[in-house]
Amino acid sequence: MDGNGRWAKERNKPRVEGHYQGAKQIEKVLQSAKDCGVKYITLYAFSSENWNRPKDEVDALMSLLLASIQENRKLIIENKIRFRTIGNIEELPQNCVEEIRKLENDSKNFTEQTLVLALNYGSRDELARAVSKLATDVADGKIKASEITYEKIAENFDTADIPDPDLMIRTSGEMRLSNYLMLQSAYAELYFTKTYWPDFGHKEFLEAIQEYQRRERRYGLTGEQINVK
Ligand code: FPP
Repeated sequence: MDGNGRWAKERNKPRVEGHYQGAKQIEKVLQSAKDCGVKYITLYAFSSENWNRPKDEVDALMSLLLASIQENRKLIIENKIRFRTIGNIEELPQNCVEEIRKLENDSKNFTEQTLVLALNYGSRDELARAVSKLATDVADGKIKASEITYEKIAENFDTADIPDPDLMIRTSGEMRLSNYLMLQSAYAELYFTKTYWPDFGHKEFLEAIQEYQRRERRYGLTGEQINVK
């Protein structure tokens, strides 16, 4: 969800205003995903590197996170959306952790759609935590070192119960993966758009899906075509 800061700057507004608009886009994109039959959507809301931002901005993002979860709770439950997070959640402010755990628990049996928020997430950190867990299992004699495969490592990722992404969208013109789902997206189609996240709505989402479908068709794997309305 990149480009919030530049979106605000172009309008002579504080960066936080961009994040506020960005948070509002989440509901729209969730609806678009539902319309297209996209069952899993994972949003990079706060990276493990984002702690390096000015304290005021980090505090504002945490307040926004708390408010977004509280405000969207009803929508998530009514629409039977399973809410999940990935990342080192326990390092977030305690009030955020409590709201997150509560919503995760209350929505855990829903199957309509899964919304995953990546919070305090970084692929390298996730990999280090997974390997550390496996190393402990080897030391405890639960598994032999020679039995470690990629699948065993992935079983210890935060994403263990989430399918690998088919499509990775990055907004705002940046063309990097920035430590986001690096191994999970090994075979994902990458889609980069110059649109800033606060302007990324239904039309932009459908354009990304259509581009994905064009690429899929090139390899003969046709899906149901989605028309931009
Ligand atoms: C990147 O834009 C965006 C973020 C670091 C935060 C993303 C957060 C939201 C969209 C809203 C918060 C919502 C929740 C649920 C936490 P940037 O600030 O790097 O933009 P720039 O590259 O233009 O400066």
